Amino acid sequence: MTVQTENLAGIDIRAEIERLRKERNAVILAHYYQKPEIQDLADYIGDSLELSKKAAATDADVIAFCGVKFMAETAKILAPEKTVILPDLDAGCSLEDSCPPEKFAQFRAAHPDHIALTYINCSTEVKALSDIIVTSSSAETILAQIPKDQKIIFGPDRHLGGYLSRKFGREMLLWPGVCIVHEAFSETELLKLKAQHPAAPVAAHPECPPHIIDHADYVGSTSGILNYAKSFEGDTLIVATEPHIIHQMQLAIPDKTFIGAPGADGQCACNICPYMALNTLEKLYLALRDLKPQVHIEEGLRLQAKKSLDRMLEMAGGTVGKGDLGAR
Ligand code: 13P
Ligand code: SF4
Repeated sequence: MTVQTENLAGIDIRAEIERLRKERNAVILAHYYQKPEIQDLADYIGDSLELSKKAAATDADVIAFCGVKFMAETAKILAPEKTVILPDLDAGCSLEDSCPPEKFAQFRAAHPDHIALTYINCSTEVKALSDIIVTSSSAETILAQIPKDQKIIFGPDRHLGGYLSRKFGREMLLWPGVCIVHEAFSETELLKLKAQHPAAPVAAHPECPPHIIDHADYVGSTSGILNYAKSFEGDTLIVATEPHIIHQMQLAIPDKTFIGAPGADGQCACNICPYMALNTLEKLYLALRDLKPQVHIEEGLRLQAKKSLDRMLEMAGGTVGKGDLGAR
């Protein structure tokens, strides 16, 4: 168990985080799904692609990653000389859990003429077994650069893969993983909510199942959804992704109304990511104080995983030659 228990009564946690951040020359990176109190003190808030880029470019000595483990590992892969801390090492992801490296390696071996285009929500081992990593904000740009006749395995999110497949008219072999958070949205409850707010558009993350995507006016990554929230016409937006992102919407556009799409009974908290929620201000303080839990990755594995991540960073920013994308 990685959760640290200690009596912190009497400690001004925010002031201590402030002090330690300077003392350690630390940068605090937070995903949009973090609790508002963590977002409010982060140096940068972003989607998984933006945070990877920040980690790769920072001149801080310590990266305090407020997100989930695969994100902190990505930071370590891209910035190995930095100390990378994650407030709670148990902050995993159902997509990562759905895709054990041994099974993924067997799947790849069974389809030698396919390249593995893999969602960043996976383990370092699976990244090392992949050709190109994508995030939800870079997937479309990257897929558009892959020759039409190239066969593709897409994992581990079958909903993101299915969405790309439908949008691009491209068949892909899909790994059967899902995000438990986006899977929990209810179509029936969403339709009831739309009936109550007939003028409100719906913005959805592509990790949502197709019966939610079908009702969306906008589909995109967390940063894409946030940009849409800043630009849509109207006064109310229904948001079908993890609801902590609404904090940034309320800060940026306080005069508009943002409603989280409902889960099964219309009011459950099943759309809060239980892994992201493991991080707290207290655990962030302890992590900065003790410089643990730290992320460590064996060097050979890191270098192998870095290849598919570097390819993502290269392709997300431009184009690569056709010959660059051969099957493994
Ligand atoms: P983004 O790439 O949109 O930040 O998504 C990450 C994620 O885990 C969504 O569930
Ligand atoms: Fe993983 Fe879903 Fe949580 Fe994102 S929201 S970290 S995909 S479980």
